[in-house]
Amino acid sequence: MRFIGSKANLLAEISALVDAVADGSEHVFCDLFAGSGAVARHFKPRYQVIANDRLHFAYALLRGVVENNRAPAFAELAAAGIADPLAYLATAPLPDVPLGAPEAFIATHYAPHADCARMYLTPANACRIDFARTTLDRWRAAGEINDGEFFYLLACVLEGVPFVSNITGTYGAYLKHWDHRARKAYAPLRLTVVDNGRDNGCYNEDAATLIRRIHGDILYLDPPYNGRQYLPNYHVLETISRYDAPSLRGTTGMRDYAAEKSGYCNKTTALAALDDVVVHAQFRHIVVSYSSDGVMPADAIARVLQRCSRPGSFQMRRLEYRKYKSKVVAPDDRLCEYLFYVSK
Ligand SMILES: C[S@@+](CC[C@H](N)C(=O)[O-])C[C@H]1O[C@@H](n2cnc3c(N)ncnc32)[C@H](O)[C@@H]1O
Repeated sequence: MRFIGSKANLLAEISALVDAVADGSEHVFCDLFAGSGAVARHFKPRYQVIANDRLHFAYALLRGVVENNRAPAFAELAAAGIADPLAYLATAPLPDVPLGAPEAFIATHYAPHADCARMYLTPANACRIDFARTTLDRWRAAGEINDGEFFYLLACVLEGVPFVSNITGTYGAYLKHWDHRARKAYAPLRLTVVDNGRDNGCYNEDAATLIRRIHGDILYLDPPYNGRQYLPNYHVLETISRYDAPSLRGTTGMRDYAAEKSGYCNKTTALAALDDVVVHAQFRHIVVSYSSDGVMPADAIARVLQRCSRPGSFQMRRLEYRKYKSKVVAPDDRLCEYLFYVSK
């Protein structure tokens, strides 16, 4: 999934750093701000993975392909005649659900009709997403799918949505004309699950809460680096994932996120939040990615890390943005991504 701050293009550098410091005795890798899950998925073949994010849709993606160790069998559904649930969600005839009904939340609020101007999705795709999402809840409530099966299907449903979303990258706004992508028919994306034979665990918690309960060997920290909160940029995916019928505001149809703001997006609270995580981390290796354009200066991050690290273990690598940023973005030679390392 395209995701702000995704480290999909930085995996080789993160791996090189981990390989250089690891001594082979490491078993548990934790991605505490996992977002799209690109880093957690990358390290899953090598380690038991703990992955966490406060966004529910990010958590659903993680549960689907990081916690699960194989694409589920769906035995109950198969016994009921649904051999391929993803094909069923994509092609089954849609029920006639009126706009305004709880089972038509996405079609009512994110697709255009007489009472709604929002154009995030075409009406046909919004109805298909409502159908897919409500079907998962129904199957789960009836015991026809277990939690692992539910989250695998939810991850597939969510991963399919950006391919037909009428946006330029995030859900902060929708386009006022239909982009050709939005006109394609929506279908869940069939995801591959890697089996690492280990007991992986995924969480949907504030990093500050979770870090106090977990321990392991390698802790990877990739907090937000600027004032852009994640939830408003992905609110449509978040609402599809939670399907909790929130009150929406304004032309964009934003759900309220006042209580869910990340302290890492604010320069007066970010450093204390990072310090708290580092102090409470029960991990031998700590790796941090951060942009030179972030609200925490690199030297302040270095001080936080060095304060509770083994003397002499601190490393800082500077990665040029141009090497991994999308070519669409004009390169800015002054900007870089830092990779910090300490041993605790
Ligand atoms: C830079 S992104 C991570 C990107 C990720 N490494 C990837 O490759 O996709 C930061 C993530 O931190 C999450 N986040 C922000 N504040 C958080 C907090 N206090 N606890 C847990 N997650 C948080 C955001 O939802 C976002 O997904």
